[in-house]
Amino acid sequence: MYDLIVKNGQVVSPSSTVQCDIAVKDGKIAALGKFGDSEADRVIDAAGKYVLPGGVEAHMHCQAPFQGCLGANDFFEQSVSAAYGGVTTFMDFANMGKGDSPFQQALARAEEMKDSAIDFSVHGKFVESTEEAIADIDKMAAYGIPTFKMFMTYKKEGVMSDEETMLRVFYKAKEVGGLPMLHCEDNTIAEANIEECRKKNDMSWVNFAKCKPVLCEAAAFSKAAYLAKYTQCPILVVHTTNEDALNTARRAHAEGQPVYVETGTHYLTLFDDIYEREDGYLAICSPPLRTPEDAKALWKGIEDGTILLTGSDDCTFDVDEKSAFLEKGPDGKWVQDFTKVVNGLSGIEIRLPVLLSEGVQKGRISINKVCALTSTNIAKIYGCYPQKGIIAPGSDADLVIVDMEKEVTLSKDTLHNNISYCLHEGFQVKGYPVMTIARGSVIIENGAFTGEKGAGRFLKRKIAPDYLKQYGLD
Ligand code: URP
Ligand code: ZN
Ligand code: ZN
Repeated sequence: MYDLIVKNGQVVSPSSTVQCDIAVKDGKIAALGKFGDSEADRVIDAAGKYVLPGGVEAHMHCQAPFQGCLGANDFFEQSVSAAYGGVTTFMDFANMGKGDSPFQQALARAEEMKDSAIDFSVHGKFVESTEEAIADIDKMAAYGIPTFKMFMTYKKEGVMSDEETMLRVFYKAKEVGGLPMLHCEDNTIAEANIEECRKKNDMSWVNFAKCKPVLCEAAAFSKAAYLAKYTQCPILVVHTTNEDALNTARRAHAEGQPVYVETGTHYLTLFDDIYEREDGYLAICSPPLRTPEDAKALWKGIEDGTILLTGSDDCTFDVDEKSAFLEKGPDGKWVQDFTKVVNGLSGIEIRLPVLLSEGVQKGRISINKVCALTSTNIAKIYGCYPQKGIIAPGSDADLVIVDMEKEVTLSKDTLHNNISYCLHEGFQVKGYPVMTIARGSVIIENGAFTGEKGAGRFLKRKIAPDYLKQYGLD
């Protein structure tokens, strides 16, 4: 007797869409095929709908102290919002300052995440390369934490890794089968530009984007890629926004170099004209929003396989935190100073619907590609495949049922986070997750959360050596 059967759905993987039933037992997928209703305690009819492996979100910052702010969601609330967006596993970063132990901070972060309703994991983070810090890489990898984040900017915030740290982390990561993750923005370029703006007394939202242009990101991307080539270490570059950076990745890929590239759905759908608005500060994120032409280059990068992952880079800064350090002038308007605005946008709940609607419905990508971009590739690259990321016997029964006919107008009122604005307010999507199942338990059904606080488990990860040696996921 099975616990659950999901029947008649179009079951999606990166390479196929097949109509079949999914039988679930003890939180795992027991079998795929054709089953009778009497064979399970519960039967869900997914006729006319698609069933994808639950989303894996490997890039978010929840309850992460940054630029004087913390974010509005706790980890349980974040997991509920994620689940509404079809996400069944998420990962966050250790909070690090100089002198902290990366391993201890990663463990502390995992502890903080325990209230999550979905499975979770943690990335290590490096801000310096003391002997003790580097030695922690062995411990983290052995514990099931093989990914290590470094920022190439945010020097003033005290979290930037210098090149020495990058090099040392790359060497050690390579030794243990780890994968460094890079935020690529050249700090020197950004800071010099900010200084110029300060001299001109123009710290407008618009100038934020101008201070961190495409080449600021591309220069750092190139540096990271060459250091990775030199050390023969695989890397993953997060939130990539433009063609210059993608061309560096393409050159690396042509040589077989494992340089994995993530982009965010906000860079596909929101543009830098938002910074012209009075409330443009709400869209301040790093790298900044770009142009529609840059977004076109990203879609091309997705299509040709240069970009294999999407991440929301979710930060839950509400208006109060975004504006906490701003002042209003005598005209009642904000005195614009982008250096006083915390960087980061929310988006964990809308990654899947945006890709279904802007990608599949608009004919840019297949639903199989969406499966790869939101689940399978992420599980593979981050080292939790095939436990996560695929609908196959033996895998965790993490499923999201998608109705491609469902139309939704995105709005702060329809999302499930603690944020009182939505940068996608009024954005129409067609194609939406209607049911989310985490390890065999239905956690989103008929628009309601039916999961449990604390039901999520810490996920130990190990990356397959093949993905680390040579670019590609086959
Ligand atoms: O603006 C952003 N992206 N804030 C979060 C931290 C980071 O850079 O990923
Ligand atoms: Zn970043
Ligand atoms: Zn981030």
